[in-house]
Amino acid sequence: MKRHPWIKATLAAGCLTLAAAGAAGTGTGSPAPAAPAHRVSFDKYSFLVDGKRTYLWSGEVHPYRLPSPGLWPDIFQKMKAAGFNTASIYFSWGYHSPREGVYDFSGVRDVDRLLDDARKAGIYVIARPGPYINAEVDSGGFPLWLTNKPVKNRSPDPAYLKLADQWMTQIDRVLARHQLTDGRGTVIAYQVENEYYNGSPAGRAYMQHLEDKARADGITVPLVGNHNATFVTGTGAVDVSGWDYYPQAFDCSHPSQWKPAPDMAGHRFAGEPLFTAEFQGGAFDPWGGPGYAKCAQLINDRFASVFYKENIAAGATAQNFYMLFGGTSWGWQAIPQNYTSYDYGAAITEGRQFDPKYYEDKRIGYFLHAVAPVTRTDAMTPGRLDNPRLVDRARINPDTGTQFHLVRHGDTTASSVETAHLALALKEGSFEVPQQAGTSIAIDGRESKLLLADYAIGATRMIYSTSELMTDATTGDRDVAVLYGRHGSDGETLLGFAARPKVTVLSGHVAQHWDKRGLRLDYRHDGLARVRVDGGRRPLLLLIGDDQATERIWRQDTPQGPVLMVGSHLLRSAHYDGDVLALTGDGDGDAHAEVFAGGASKVTWNGKPLAATPTASGSLALDLPVPKPVTLPTLDHWTRRAGAPEIARGFDDSTWRVANLTTSSSVTKPGTLPVLFADDYGFHTGNTWYRGHFTVDARHAAPAGLKLKVFSGGNGGAYSVWLNGHFLGSVTRNETGAFGFPAAMLVPGDNVVSVLTVDMGHEEDYDGTGENRTARGIVSAEPLSADARAITWRLQGAIAGEDPQRGPYNFGGLYGERQGWPLKPGNAADWHPATLPADDSTPGVTWYRTRVPLDLPRGQDTSLGLEIKDPPGRHYRAMIFVNGWQMGNYIAELGPQHRFPIPDGVIDPHGDNDITIAVWKTDASPGGLGTVSLIDFGSYASPVDVSTVR
Ligand code: GAL
Repeated sequence: MKRHPWIKATLAAGCLTLAAAGAAGTGTGSPAPAAPAHRVSFDKYSFLVDGKRTYLWSGEVHPYRLPSPGLWPDIFQKMKAAGFNTASIYFSWGYHSPREGVYDFSGVRDVDRLLDDARKAGIYVIARPGPYINAEVDSGGFPLWLTNKPVKNRSPDPAYLKLADQWMTQIDRVLARHQLTDGRGTVIAYQVENEYYNGSPAGRAYMQHLEDKARADGITVPLVGNHNATFVTGTGAVDVSGWDYYPQAFDCSHPSQWKPAPDMAGHRFAGEPLFTAEFQGGAFDPWGGPGYAKCAQLINDRFASVFYKENIAAGATAQNFYMLFGGTSWGWQAIPQNYTSYDYGAAITEGRQFDPKYYEDKRIGYFLHAVAPVTRTDAMTPGRLDNPRLVDRARINPDTGTQFHLVRHGDTTASSVETAHLALALKEGSFEVPQQAGTSIAIDGRESKLLLADYAIGATRMIYSTSELMTDATTGDRDVAVLYGRHGSDGETLLGFAARPKVTVLSGHVAQHWDKRGLRLDYRHDGLARVRVDGGRRPLLLLIGDDQATERIWRQDTPQGPVLMVGSHLLRSAHYDGDVLALTGDGDGDAHAEVFAGGASKVTWNGKPLAATPTASGSLALDLPVPKPVTLPTLDHWTRRAGAPEIARGFDDSTWRVANLTTSSSVTKPGTLPVLFADDYGFHTGNTWYRGHFTVDARHAAPAGLKLKVFSGGNGGAYSVWLNGHFLGSVTRNETGAFGFPAAMLVPGDNVVSVLTVDMGHEEDYDGTGENRTARGIVSAEPLSADARAITWRLQGAIAGEDPQRGPYNFGGLYGERQGWPLKPGNAADWHPATLPADDSTPGVTWYRTRVPLDLPRGQDTSLGLEIKDPPGRHYRAMIFVNGWQMGNYIAELGPQHRFPIPDGVIDPHGDNDITIAVWKTDASPGGLGTVSLIDFGSYASPVDVSTVR
C-alpha cells in the first residue's frame, strides 16, 4: 500500500502544514506572487483546505479545446459565478510536444497563464496530466510522434516510461509551481493516469512509477484517480480514489430515455471522501450523430437535479462534471469517431453561452457553498412520505444537527408528477410537511428536491422549508436567504423565534402563521417575493423565487463579505475599494439590477460608476448598460483556386518520400509491401497524397487496375483515386475499393495513379494495446493482374513543424496547406471570383477564400461562428480556416455539424479576418461548397476584451 508520508501524517494529525511558501516561479509565466502555503487534507467526510471543510464542486474544461488564452478567464469566471470552486483539467501531452524531446508551453499552450487565470477567478484545479488522458482527443493525448514508437503504452515498459517521464518532468514542473500547498495556490489535487483499470502487478508497478515520479517532481497535493476501485490499497494506490460514471452513456438519439441513477453510497473507501472524479455532464456525439442539442437534452437541467443531488444524498463531497465547457477539437485533434465540436451538451456551450443546466448547476453549487454542514454528514433514517412512488434519502450533520432530505421518485427515471407530505423528526418535534391544508411537496416529473431542516440562516433558525435553499449570506447588518421552487408550486418555511417577530412583505404574496413552534411563511413560488423578518438577533430578508427568478441571482464573496446581485446576465467578480463596490459582469437587454452588499455606498460596473439608489429591500438599485445591436456582414467577395495539382500525371513529386519501408511501427499488418502507412513516413495529420508510378511499354503490361485498402478511421473516412488525371472514383465510409484502369486512360511510358487519403485522427489507446498505432493511409495496394512491385509509390502529407504557433494538429497535407494558403494565399491573380453556393461538378480539391472586415461594438462580448448550409444531396468535405486556424471539419452528407463557433482571438471582431475553406469534392455530382455565413451565438455588454492569437 502506497501513501505519501505527509498524507498519512495529515490523517493522523487532522492537518499538517506543508512546505514553506515560495517554491514557486522558475518558469516562463509571469513572476510568482508570494503565496502563503496552504494545507490540503482529507478525511472520510471531505477535502479540507487549511482545516476548513470544502465541498469540491468541479467542472471539466480542456485548455487545448479553447485556443484563445484571452477567453480562459471568461470560462473560469462563468464557472465561479455558478458556484463552482474547482476545475478539473486534462493536459494533453501531444498538444505540448510536436516532436520527441520538444515541449511547448507558450502562446495558446501557456499552462502558467491558464493556472494563474484559474487562481484569479477563485477556482482550484484538479490537474490531470496523463500521460494518457483518453478525452476523445487524438491518440488519447499521446503525441503524434508516439505513433512511430513501438513501445508498450500505459505499462512499465522502460522504453515507454522513458518517453512518458519526459512529459511528466515538463508538465510537473509547471503544475508544481501552482500548487495550493507550496506554489502560487491553485492546484488542489493531481490525478495519476486516467481511467486505468489494470490492477495486475504490471499495472500497479506502472501506477507506482507515475506516483513516485510526481512526488520526485515536487507534487505535494493529494494524488487522486478516476480508476474506480482499482487503486484503493496496495502498490500504486492513490490517496483519494474517485469514480468515473456516465449513467446515460453516449447515445443522444433518445434524449428522453433515462437509465437509473447509480447509488454512490455503496462506493465509499475507508478514510476517503466520496469523490466522483468524472460524472456525466453531457455526452460526445459521433459523425452523423443526432447533434449536441440532443445531448444537452439527454443530460439536461432535470438530469442535474436528479443525479447530482442524488450524489449529495449519497454523501459525495467532491463532484466533477465532464464536461462543464467542452470547447472545440480544432485542427486534427478529434478522434475518428467525433466531429470538430466538443460542445458535449455541457452547461456552458461551445459558443460560451449558458445551457439551462448551467442554472441548475448554479442553484446546487450555491447551496453547497452556503450550507457548510453538508461537508460532514452521515446517513440517517429517512422521513416517511405518504406517496409510495416517492422516497426520502436523508443525511444529518452530527455537529449541527442539520438535516438534508432528498425527496425524489423511487424510480429515478420516472417522469410522473407526484405530491406528498414528508414526516420530519426535528429538535422542535415532529412535523408532517407541508402543514398548510391543501398543499403538498410537488415533484414535477423529473426533479428531486433537496430540503433542509434544522439549519441556521445566519442568526435565524430555519426549522424546515419545503422550498429549496439556494444561498444565504450576511450582508451588512442583516441576513439574506434565497429560497426557490418551480414556478407555481407551493412552499412553506418555518422559522424559529422565541417571540413573534415583525413580518414585512415587501413584494409578492406571502402569508404568515405564528404559533409556539415558530413563524410559518406560506406562499406560492411566483417571480421573486421579498419578506423582511425583524425580531431575531439580526434582521432577515427572504427572497423567495421561482426557478426562473433564480437564474438572475448571483453571488460573489469578498474579504469584506458576500455580495448578492439580482439582475444582469452574469456577475463575474466583486471587490471593495473602500466604500466603492467594484463589480464586473455582463449585461443583456434587461438593465434592471440591484445589489445587496454591506458597506457599499458607491458602485462601479466594468470600471464605470453607476447611479446606485437605496431600495426598501435594503439593496442598491442599479441601471446597467445594455448591449448594442450586432449586425454581421454577409460573406461575399469569395475567390477560388484549384487545389489538387497532384492529380496531374506530370506533377513533380520528385521531392516526395519514396515508400520503401518494409517494416512498420503500426499494430496494423501491412497488406502489401512496401509499407504505405502515412505515420511511418512522418505524416500524422489530415490529408496525405500518394502517387504510384508504373511504366507501360513493350516489356511492361499495364495493370488492369488497382485494389486498395485504406484506413482513414471512423465513419468520416474517404479516399479518391485518379489515373493520369482522370477521376476513377471515391470510397466513403468503407476501406476497400477496386478501380479498373480503362485502356484509353493509359499512356506509353510513365503512368501515375494519384490517391488522396485522410487521417481522421488516431484511435485512443484505452486498453494500452497500441491502438493509437492503427495504420492510417494505404494499407494495401494490389494491382489487378500485375506484380505489386510494378508500382513505385511516393507520398506527401503534412509538413511537420510548419507553424509552431498553431502546433502539430493544425495542418494536414493538402497542396494549399503545404503552400500555406490559409495564412499566405499568394498571388491574388491565382484566385478567381466565385459565388456561393458553388456550382461545380469536378471531383478534387478547390480552395475558397474571403476577407471580412469586422467592426463589432466595443465593450461587448459577441460570440461568433461560421455556418455552412447546403442544398441537399451534396457530396463534399470542407476544412474551415479562420486566420490560419483550422476550426472546422465538415462532411456535407454526414453532418451533423453545420455551425462552427470561432473563439474571439482566433477571429478578430475589430479587424480584418481571412476565411479560407478547402473543399474536397468526392464525386462528380453537381455541387461544391454551399453558402457560408457568420452567426452570432450571443452578445452582451461585457468587460471581456480579447487580444488576437495571430
Ligand atoms: C471518461 C474518460 C474521459 C472521456 C469520457 C467520455 O471515462 O476518462 O477521458 O473519454 O470518458 O467523454
